Amino acid sequence: MKTQKDYWNKKIVDWTKISYDKKEKNVPLAEKIATHFRAISKRMDVTLKLLGPLVNNKTVLNLGCGLGNECFAILGFNPKKVIGIDISSVAIEEAQERAKKRKLDKKTEFIEVDISQLKTLPEFDYVIGLGFIDYLTKDELQGLFEKIGNRPYFFSYFEKKFSLLNLMHALYVRWQKCPGAYKYSRAEIESIVPSSSQNYILEEDSLLFLTNIDALRKN
Ligand SMILES: C[S@@+](CC[C@H](N)C(=O)[O-])C[C@H]1O[C@@H](n2cnc3c(N)ncnc32)[C@H](O)[C@@H]1O
Repeated sequence: MKTQKDYWNKKIVDWTKISYDKKEKNVPLAEKIATHFRAISKRMDVTLKLLGPLVNNKTVLNLGCGLGNECFAILGFNPKKVIGIDISSVAIEEAQERAKKRKLDKKTEFIEVDISQLKTLPEFDYVIGLGFIDYLTKDELQGLFEKIGNRPYFFSYFEKKFSLLNLMHALYVRWQKCPGAYKYSRAEIESIVPSSSQNYILEEDSLLFLTNIDALRKN
């Protein structure tokens, strides 16, 4: 059976190309179609707008970092360090290569590991994940939030509810034989994430994020 690692090893390069450049032609048809119902660049812009001002001289841990796009973008806000973690060896090798080419390897570290296999997380001030928690089972999510504890986190979130977008995404992951893509209702999130971490769902520019960062709370 295809694992999450196999799936992303095969997909992450094309997925990243088309997600951040809609004009990219040299990608499979599935990605060309799927990109029209994704808002990856917007998700990145919103993340940078919200988190950029907070990360000066801080260590940011980026889970499911892919080829490192978020990591490199966050470096523009002068963090102490950015650590990217991903299950895909293809993603991590490419991220390391890109860091070296851009002479950013002193401020970045990329680690290939399945997050659910880690006993503890590397030290961080903020942990973030874009398009990441959607690939974790309920048990894996529970384990992740236990490891994070009450420290600040920021994850993009797709709510489980009926919508054309969710229907299209369900068809896409089935077509692509993704070994596991999950959506959680707000009630499920409440039951998974310990309330002691002060979690809430933030809506910004029509995108949702699961976070506990007080500075981003709207009244
Ligand atoms: C949708 S991509 C998002 C990539 C990147 N965050 C971005 O938005 O450009 C999801 C990423 O999560 C990674 N991933 C999925 N499950 C993982 C796990 N259990 N541990 C670490 N990384 C994982 C995949 O390899 C993939 O790179």
